[in-house]
Amino acid sequence: MRILIAHATKHGSTAEIAAAIGATLREAGLEVDVRTARDVRTLAGYNAVVLGSGLYSAHWLREANRFVKRLLPALREVPVWLFSSGPLDHSTDFADIPLTEHVAPDVAPIGARGHRTFGGRLLPGTPGVDDALLATHRVGDFRSWDRIRAWAREIASVLLAESQAG
Ligand SMILES: Cc1cc2nc3c(=O)[nH]c(=O)nc-3n(C[C@H](O)[C@H](O)[C@H](O)COP(=O)(O)O)c2cc1C
Repeated sequence: MRILIAHATKHGSTAEIAAAIGATLREAGLEVDVRTARDVRTLAGYNAVVLGSGLYSAHWLREANRFVKRLLPALREVPVWLFSSGPLDHSTDFADIPLTEHVAPDVAPIGARGHRTFGGRLLPGTPGVDDALLATHRVGDFRSWDRIRAWAREIASVLLAESQAG
């Protein structure tokens, strides 16, 4: 089984989440490619997809939206899981935060198996993060690696069970 983890990131934190999901799936025995959404031209050779984007003004980044539009027919043929990364607080530790109202209609045609929202990160010293952003947003790293890895383990167990069944 070969799994694609595709991600869209502006300041790198969503890419790190994608890498952690990829590492967890590999530990479970799956073959994984972690790639930026922009670089993926075809889903040929992949048995499942995990797609995630950083949230900006409650929207996914353009390259994630384009990924969905470009590859929709193929996405409808494989199991797909989605994630968003954004909230600069601990809200995602206590509640499941659904797809935003802007993202949900665009991804609905995929018929994804599931979606998670993970906390985000905004820290000084990150390329592209300037004083204006730091002054207007909460600063910190709110990603829960335990939650991220636990979700990836759930995906791995579903895929492994399905591949054994048939
Ligand atoms: C200008 C700006 C707008 C943002 N808007 C949102 C938002 O609407 N919802 C949210 O949950 N997080 C929002 N965030 C937080 C980012 O989603 C968070 O920093 C995330 O980790 C960024 O992912 P990236 O590093 O992969 O680009 C915003 C951050 C910035 C800098």
